[in-house]
Amino acid sequence: MEKDNPFTLSVYAGPAYFCDRIIETEKIISAIENHRNITLISHRRMGKSGLIKHVFHKLRNEKKLSLFYIDIMDTEDLSGFINLIAKEIIGKVDKSTMNVIKVFSTIVKSLRPKISIDQLTGSPQIEISVQHDAAPEQSLTEIFEYLQKQEKHVIIALDEFQQITNYPEKNVEAMLRKSIQQLSNSTFIFSGSQKHLLLSMFSNYGRPFYQSSELLNLLKIDKEIYKTFILSAFKKTNRTIDQSALKFILNQTQIHTFYVQYLCNKLYSLPQKDINEKIAADTLLDILEENEVVYFNYKTLLTRLQFKLLEAIAKERGISKPTSKDFIGKYKLGTPSSVKTALVSLLKKEMVYLDESKTMVYDIFFAKWLERRIQS
Ligand SMILES: Nc1ncnc2c1ncn2[C@@H]1O[C@H](COP(=O)(O)OP(=O)(O)OP(=O)(O)O)[C@@H](O)[C@H]1O
Ligand SMILES: [Mg+2]
Repeated sequence: MEKDNPFTLSVYAGPAYFCDRIIETEKIISAIENHRNITLISHRRMGKSGLIKHVFHKLRNEKKLSLFYIDIMDTEDLSGFINLIAKEIIGKVDKSTMNVIKVFSTIVKSLRPKISIDQLTGSPQIEISVQHDAAPEQSLTEIFEYLQKQEKHVIIALDEFQQITNYPEKNVEAMLRKSIQQLSNSTFIFSGSQKHLLLSMFSNYGRPFYQSSELLNLLKIDKEIYKTFILSAFKKTNRTIDQSALKFILNQTQIHTFYVQYLCNKLYSLPQKDINEKIAADTLLDILEENEVVYFNYKTLLTRLQFKLLEAIAKERGISKPTSKDFIGKYKLGTPSSVKTALVSLLKKEMVYLDESKTMVYDIFFAKWLERRIQS
């Protein structure tokens, strides 16, 4: 049988499918070993979650560590957060779960974990219910008390951590910080993609998390290292990919991990076993076509000016002065103030982001699609 596609699109498929990140992995492990909290920041889809899973995979056999990965993206408030943490900590239902639940319940009195059977799958699952009148603060304190009693070094990765700033409760940051500070046997990995939110959380004097954590800005994978990774993945199953195709892939995707992976995944799945630049270019066009429905949908979510502005930014491959006369004139965008308003809205919707010096379209394939539209 044909080997699995080595360009995985799932968050983490194991070290064999994972390119580089050697230095970052070491940094995170060193932070953990030395009980320093660490905050991982990058643009979306650069590989934060994958990196955390990779680190956890490396540490999985360390007997002294207890590892928890918790993605809080879907939590809407403090109770949701607490519920999720409690569930993760109690873990999957297995033989030892009953014991864990017993100990957990003697310390965390405000929450009641219960094992129920999932109606659809028939497998056991944990449900957490809040005891009558218990305030979320109390549950949080108790959960942290439970963690403090663990004999192991507890590592908790909170992915999409910026989500806590969307909770309706006002004092979440302070409350969490206070609880975390009291733990002597736990280390936290905070991770998220909303750079400005996380940076201001961790580096603004006056915010509860100020300087409580080391920052790790996850950048692009080194071009040559990625080239070698792609090349050898193709070689392993007697495929070839030539240098111009490799160059094309890394240029077009700007070495942004997800987009590299996606294009390579597609190329690997072709009947052709020898990939050249022409095949790579055609495949990229196929991807843009496949995604067209989504892109047209974006259009309906934006105002005319916002969409026009996006097209112009894409066409310029990023713009350093979006309110300049030249740029506005070239693309007939109206007045600087309306462009400014549209830009704020696009930033908020995460359709564009600010690079060091330029405003860029966030989704690289979408940018390619926009760029092509304006040509025709
Ligand atoms: N080092 C790597 N080698 C190969 N593929 C990777 C690597 N890191 C991430 N990927 C792949 O890139 C894609 C994006 O990775 P991941 O989901 O970890 O990014 P993220 O930064 O957490 O994104 P988001 O901000 O959307 O949560 C996934 O398909 C993942 O498999
Ligand atoms: Mg992620």
